[in-house]
Amino acid sequence: APVVRVAPSILSADLLNLGRDLEAISGADFIHIDVMDGHFTPNLTFGVDTVKACKRASTVPLDVHMMVTNPDESVSWYLDAGADMVTVHLEAARHPHRIVSEIHAAGAQAGVVLNPGTPACALDSILEDVDMVLLMSVDPGFGGQSFIEGTIRKISQVRSMARERGKDLLIEVDGGVSAANVERVVAAGADVIVAGSAVFGSADPAREVARLRELGTP
Ligand code: DX5
Ligand code: ZN
Repeated sequence: APVVRVAPSILSADLLNLGRDLEAISGADFIHIDVMDGHFTPNLTFGVDTVKACKRASTVPLDVHMMVTNPDESVSWYLDAGADMVTVHLEAARHPHRIVSEIHAAGAQAGVVLNPGTPACALDSILEDVDMVLLMSVDPGFGGQSFIEGTIRKISQVRSMARERGKDLLIEVDGGVSAANVERVVAAGADVIVAGSAVFGSADPAREVARLRELGTP
């Protein structure tokens, strides 16, 4: 099996030392940026200027997770800002296929996201068209929440759906992933793991990225 990809979430970084923290994760596979609008999620976080600032500061590909109502209206801003991967929630997108086409037309990779309460079958009509499916393993809004166990079964379900359709698909898992559960998450079929508090809450974020990758690689 290929090496698991690690995407540290800057939600848990030290914002007053973001440059230092980006430097510390220069060995990561993606920088995960949580865009929250205070409507789709209770919390309010980063916007397009943060994405631009990360683009200037790092060569690591940017994985922009849009937790906003009506991403149809704002997806182009994040593409212009330099996102390499953009994921939109199926619970929020009005026209998911149109958004995915727009992302691809800009030369970026596209993904759709499911909240813990949304069943895997919601992917039925879009699976073939995306590069990645992001499965939330916590209800979105905050870092440091605990992993919802039912996600393991959902990861396997999406992995089987992709296999049945002969679709080459990345599965990313976001929320409560740490050294304690990364092996099980990857064994169920995940290719990319997001880790916020696990990486930035550790004394040595660079080492934690390497450790998660090692633990997650069979
Ligand atoms: C939650 C965000 C996550 C969050 C993960 O709404 O989408 O990306 O940063 O944080 P941890 O890894 O601490 O659960
Ligand atoms: Zn996220």
